[in-house]
Amino acid sequence: MFIRDAWYIAAWADELGQKPLARRICNEPVVLFRDGEGRAAALVDRCCHRAAPLSHGEVVPAGLQCGYHGLTFDSSGKCVAIPGQGNIPDSARVRSYPLAEKNQFLWIWMGEPARADASHIVDFPYHDDKARWPNKHDCYPIKANYMLMVDNLMDLTHLGYLHARTVGGNPAAHVHAEMKTEHTPTGIKFTRWMRNSVPPPSYVKAAGFQGRVDRWQEFEWVAPSSILQWTGAADVGTGAYEGKREGGFQFRLFHGLTPETETSCFYFWSCANGYRQNEPEATEQLYREIAPTFVEDKEMVEAQQSRLSELGEPGLVNIVSDTNRVVMRRFIERLIEQERGALAAE
Ligand code: FES
Ligand SMILES: [Fe+2]
Repeated sequence: MFIRDAWYIAAWADELGQKPLARRICNEPVVLFRDGEGRAAALVDRCCHRAAPLSHGEVVPAGLQCGYHGLTFDSSGKCVAIPGQGNIPDSARVRSYPLAEKNQFLWIWMGEPARADASHIVDFPYHDDKARWPNKHDCYPIKANYMLMVDNLMDLTHLGYLHARTVGGNPAAHVHAEMKTEHTPTGIKFTRWMRNSVPPPSYVKAAGFQGRVDRWQEFEWVAPSSILQWTGAADVGTGAYEGKREGGFQFRLFHGLTPETETSCFYFWSCANGYRQNEPEATEQLYREIAPTFVEDKEMVEAQQSRLSELGEPGLVNIVSDTNRVVMRRFIERLIEQERGALAAE
């Protein structure tokens, strides 16, 4: 079961231009489009006339026009034009979903519209701050349940193995990282420190480290599926651990997972470099380092999903490094319970 009373990323804002965009979210067919003023909207991707997908239609000044017999719908889902007919029945409407554009994302609410409160959407202002945080983004379709990617980001001991050749570095440094976890009202936040460690190859390439470093990874998981990451390193013993983390080498990543079906999802991610900000090549280089790393994650969780689909969960064990992942999963279960309760009460 999906949590429906939540904001999910439907698309990057720049994915939506003049043409409607079809996307399945929480197993529902959705069409996104921009109205005459450029405001983004989301409707169920099914015309209320003969069920043609509205995403096969086109955007016209009055709204989204069905590509089959030309009924047109505004952003609220109301039919505003029927060719050859002046009278538009009230029943001629399709479901619309609350949608909000924020920090370069289009956020959609799949649950009860009355409970949608856009002030609860995660803040990630760095996407809008191209001067201090030049950034680049992507979306990977993944053939795995979205929670497998959240699991992946909650247990970073995989870096030393799965990403050994890219951002990983020495496995022992990850397993023995010093970790502090904090519970927040919306999820958890954990910081890992690898003090006096050998920087991974990609850090050396990006920042030219000569020797050992103090390296940090700060992760904030916001339920159900946003992960805000702040990572960096400084020459060993130069005060980063004590709080002097401005300047030097650092970057921010955003990870957002949106369920498509029970066994597929969209992975929206971005990288923003907080170093060499005046060099567009630094952003490109960071992107080039990270993009293949996330392909490694994608391939692993897809392989994991195929085993889970075949053999299920019996016999799986938790180890110490699963602690945050287990806390996250319990939090999700509580949200699902709450939502079931709210539905039952209605
Ligand atoms: S199916 Fe859309 S107008 Fe006929
Ligand atoms: Fe990974």
